[in-house]
Amino acid sequence: MKRSLKVLFIILLVSYRLQAQHEHTDSSPHHHSHYLEHLETPAHKLIFPSSTPDRIISNLTDDQAHTFAVNWRTDQYVSNGVVEVALATEGPEFLLGDIRRIKANSQKIENQNRNEALVKATYHSALVNNLQPNTTYVYRVGNGDKNDDYWSEWFQIKTAKKDKSEPFSFIYFGDAQNHIKSLWSRVIRSSYRKFPEIDFMLHAGDLVNDRDSNLEWGEWFYAGSFIHATVPSVMTPGNHEYRDGVLTPLWRPQFTLPENGPTEDLQETCFSIDYQDMKLISIDSEAFDESLESINAQIEWLESVLKANTKKWTTIFTHYPVYSTAEGRDNWELREAIKPLIDKYGVDLVLQGHDHTYARGFPENKGQGLTVVKDIGTVYAVSVSGPKMYESKDQEWMVRRGEYIQLFQIITVSENSISYGAYTPIGTLYDSFKIIKKNGKKKLINMMPDTPTRLKEDFVKHE
Ligand SMILES: [Fe+2]
Repeated sequence: MKRSLKVLFIILLVSYRLQAQHEHTDSSPHHHSHYLEHLETPAHKLIFPSSTPDRIISNLTDDQAHTFAVNWRTDQYVSNGVVEVALATEGPEFLLGDIRRIKANSQKIENQNRNEALVKATYHSALVNNLQPNTTYVYRVGNGDKNDDYWSEWFQIKTAKKDKSEPFSFIYFGDAQNHIKSLWSRVIRSSYRKFPEIDFMLHAGDLVNDRDSNLEWGEWFYAGSFIHATVPSVMTPGNHEYRDGVLTPLWRPQFTLPENGPTEDLQETCFSIDYQDMKLISIDSEAFDESLESINAQIEWLESVLKANTKKWTTIFTHYPVYSTAEGRDNWELREAIKPLIDKYGVDLVLQGHDHTYARGFPENKGQGLTVVKDIGTVYAVSVSGPKMYESKDQEWMVRRGEYIQLFQIITVSENSISYGAYTPIGTLYDSFKIIKKNGKKKLINMMPDTPTRLKEDFVKHE
């Protein structure tokens, strides 16, 4: 009798302790209480952060041969961020060697969009420097804890080459903007599958539709997932990253883009990057639209950048098209300000978005359908990667156009040429050309497939 009472007492004590321990775990600050609090919020995993890093993205720096930038997000229980970086090895032996630690800049941000839930997060950003060119590194991001749960996986990233004559490639996307998880994801994923060796990705604005929507940004990061952390990217804002003339407060915390633009207001939206033998320039065309000061500041700055440019190739990317594809759409203020500089300094490529159609051509085109065009000036392209589809109007400057088509463009820059191919998400080539620049002369070789021009009316009855 006495013995069984003792056993009962021990059982009660143990179960009480287990329960107490369980309660303690539940109330620990690292328990993700918002999971319970917002269980009814649709897509809450896309919206709310946890203590494990998410929205991890590497951005192009102005010295990509020796540095890379990385940004990520956690919940606010995490207040510090750390990047660990090492030379990539064949096996896991890099873990046994020297792993560098770089402390991130971390800032707490609260953001609420319209009727979405309030999201509290810590945004972390770091610049990893002192790297060797053309070298593969491994890196991970976390809070510096020993516990693996608070770290990302190890990503691989390759620095840029230093040799100017070595070719490099990048993918250019027009607007993602709508139904990003549902319908844009296949475009970025198939671009990476078709060209896994690309050096960076470029987004020509309107990445999302509603600048502060944590759901839409969550979809954008989800669609690209590990690709964003592995392939550096560069982006210019579109009108949808702005509201009432103000850039989304999420832009600068979630990306690290160069701060070499003309004014503080234009930091990380108007900038230039030297990538091997190409000068890459982002013009913030929505800011352009907002004020005369912004136009003057950007034009003056652009002229100084182009004047001092010693690179063989120059590419400008901006959201609004210098030549629109649709009737009734005409960004004449942008064109009047920027076109004289584009011509004067012989810019090679202008990559744009906004018109939700595809077009590529050059202003001097007389519609003769030539395969080889001598003394070519600047080639302009407007493209769209998301599912929002407009109509366009056939115009003289266009060599190839298309409607109701989602595309990504692969652009390869070599010593004497730029090759360009526009592909659909199922891998069909829709447009292609080559610019050859040799001995101060520049010619264009058109290599379009002979498939008919895609028109919206062929797929959708007139709205
Ligand atoms: Fe737009």
